Amino acid sequence: MKITIKHIAQEAGVSTATVSKVINKKDEHISAATVDRIMKIVKEYNYIPNGLASSMVTKKTKTLGLLIPDITNPFFPEIARGVEDKANEENYSVIFCNTDDDLVKEEKCLAMLIEKMVDAIIIVPSAERTKDFNSLKNISIPIVFVDRDLEIDFFTAKVLVDNYEGSYNAVTYLIENEYRKIAFITGPSSTKTSQQRLEGYKKALEDGCIRYDEKYVLEGTFKREWGKQAIQQLIEQKIDFDAVYCGDDIIAIGAMKALKEKGYKIPDDIGVMGYDNIYISELVEPSLSTVRQPNYDMGSKAVSIALEAIDDKQIKGEVTILKTALIIRKSTKKR
Ligand code: HPA
Repeated sequence: MKITIKHIAQEAGVSTATVSKVINKKDEHISAATVDRIMKIVKEYNYIPNGLASSMVTKKTKTLGLLIPDITNPFFPEIARGVEDKANEENYSVIFCNTDDDLVKEEKCLAMLIEKMVDAIIIVPSAERTKDFNSLKNISIPIVFVDRDLEIDFFTAKVLVDNYEGSYNAVTYLIENEYRKIAFITGPSSTKTSQQRLEGYKKALEDGCIRYDEKYVLEGTFKREWGKQAIQQLIEQKIDFDAVYCGDDIIAIGAMKALKEKGYKIPDDIGVMGYDNIYISELVEPSLSTVRQPNYDMGSKAVSIALEAIDDKQIKGEVTILKTALIIRKSTKKR
């Protein structure tokens, strides 16, 4: 027999409205003894409330929308895991969308999530989102930006990392270890992430008394293929380099493959430094020196803030900047 809210109410000797209030935790005016009695019956029958009916009472769907650019880049599942774990802990579920760094796809995902009446949106904006902010502005539920910054002033919160400092530390480490000709294979220059990492690179060169030369900077995508292609370009253009610093670990892994195929030894001939500390970075050969980002924590923190905002605590414009840490492995060495 399918147990309904009516059965629970009859057995507890209360109205269905009272059961609904208890299940939806809107029970401030109901005695503790009645709440206990109802919950005992709910547990006894393993009663699972009808989500749609609950939503009508609470005006909440207990779902969050998560938009990320590319689930195949292991950096993003780590954020997604932080989002989902925290959301589940708070009895929320997550609807996930892959935008492929494509603005049109991102707009479609946003519209779909709003239609599904998610209670808040957590978004790593696509690389193509550089100036058209109208659709974001019109969103009336809390929206939390993660990882990639945008120049907007109508957000609920931003959870970011200090890309400038992480990049500065990585390049300074290379210079301190006597690397002098450091090529930088960056992600898309439209993202603040790439721009901030480039600024960190330039400042580290300046402080290390190395002249910045734009021929050492190759701008592309956050993808493995780009790492391979960029190494080919450096070699074809006969650019003399002794290290490659990469816009993320996936680029670095592509670059390492291309370097090995061309017969270079890492780190003896060329040092390689990544960024992100995705789990594969310690599994590749040689293991990759990189910058650790608190990916999981970014996701989890974004959910905490989103849930506070849903509960009407009016968080507007809170910016959290998390720290990075340098992880030294075998792809770099003292020269
Ligand atoms: N893409 C890939 N790797 C990254 C990003 C990104 O947006 N941000 C930090 N690491």
